[in-house]
Amino acid sequence: VRRVAVLTSGGDAPGMNAAIRAVVRTGAQQGIEVVGVRRGFSGLHRGEFRLLGPRDVANTLQRGGTLLLTARSRTWRTPEGRAEGAAHLREWGVDGLIVIGGDGSFHGGYALQEEHDIPVIGVPGTIDNDLYGTDHTIGYFTAVETALGAVDKLRDTGASHERIFVIEVMGRHAGHIALDVAVAGGAEEVFIPEDAKPVGTVVDIVRQSVSKGKLGSIIIVAEGYPGGAQGVADAIAQGTGLETRVSILGHIQRGGSPVSSDRILASRLGEAAVYALMDGKRGVMVGRTSGLFTYTPLPETWQKSKDVSHDLYRCAKTLSI
Ligand code: F6P
Repeated sequence: VRRVAVLTSGGDAPGMNAAIRAVVRTGAQQGIEVVGVRRGFSGLHRGEFRLLGPRDVANTLQRGGTLLLTARSRTWRTPEGRAEGAAHLREWGVDGLIVIGGDGSFHGGYALQEEHDIPVIGVPGTIDNDLYGTDHTIGYFTAVETALGAVDKLRDTGASHERIFVIEVMGRHAGHIALDVAVAGGAEEVFIPEDAKPVGTVVDIVRQSVSKGKLGSIIIVAEGYPGGAQGVADAIAQGTGLETRVSILGHIQRGGSPVSSDRILASRLGEAAVYALMDGKRGVMVGRTSGLFTYTPLPETWQKSKDVSHDLYRCAKTLSI
């Protein structure tokens, strides 16, 4: 392997810069040149390439966002778009591509590999933690911290006004962020897409909270739960008549300086991705599972589903009395 390319794609996640840095510096250590592709697959299709050396990634480890920029590309979904991207990679003498992103990005990378025989390695970068084949994804820990900080603040104002706060967190179709935030933030109830309990159950929860003398209630809702936070808040307002506010945390959960766990995970996985290409691996995502590096075929990362922790779900219930 002489030259590898790296890109970030899909929603940005805190720690992506740490992963890019790890790829660039591991490459340099191993005598491999690293080409940075700007704007994800859009930039790959247009040939937005630049060689990156160790100093180009200095002072980036602690920064949120992605220095390579990111995009969700429509053109890449067409065989013509992918053929143009493959031609640019060939012109630049690239032997392998490292894709940092989520399942949509892995679809794009896998299609390139299958159609044009360019080895692709995936690095899990998404706040959603929804990829099979790794315990955690880069950005997840930071997103949980950010959401938790907001929940703590909302609890202050909620308790002062004796209001119910229904807080929506990101996670796309998964409830990982919601569950962690619910337990760490002491929520009265949590709604996740993995459990289709009816929204009306919240009415009793809130009534009980009031009768137990709780000053306010925090209800966490994953964005993927049908109806979202607004649906839950409507059910509370109709069922109890209590003063209820909705707060949708939104994209702030994607920003900010990555916490140490994300920096470390990103550094390890970026390094491992270069070694994987050197070992002749292709079409796999590098992950960390139970403290070990794992290499999961890219299609499995989106075909198999990663369940939420049922123990944690039970814990959230137990402690909410
Ligand atoms: O995948 C990351 C994520 O932030 C999801 O949690 C969310 O559903 C989605 O991206 C939002 O996407 P966009 O940036 O296109 O609004």
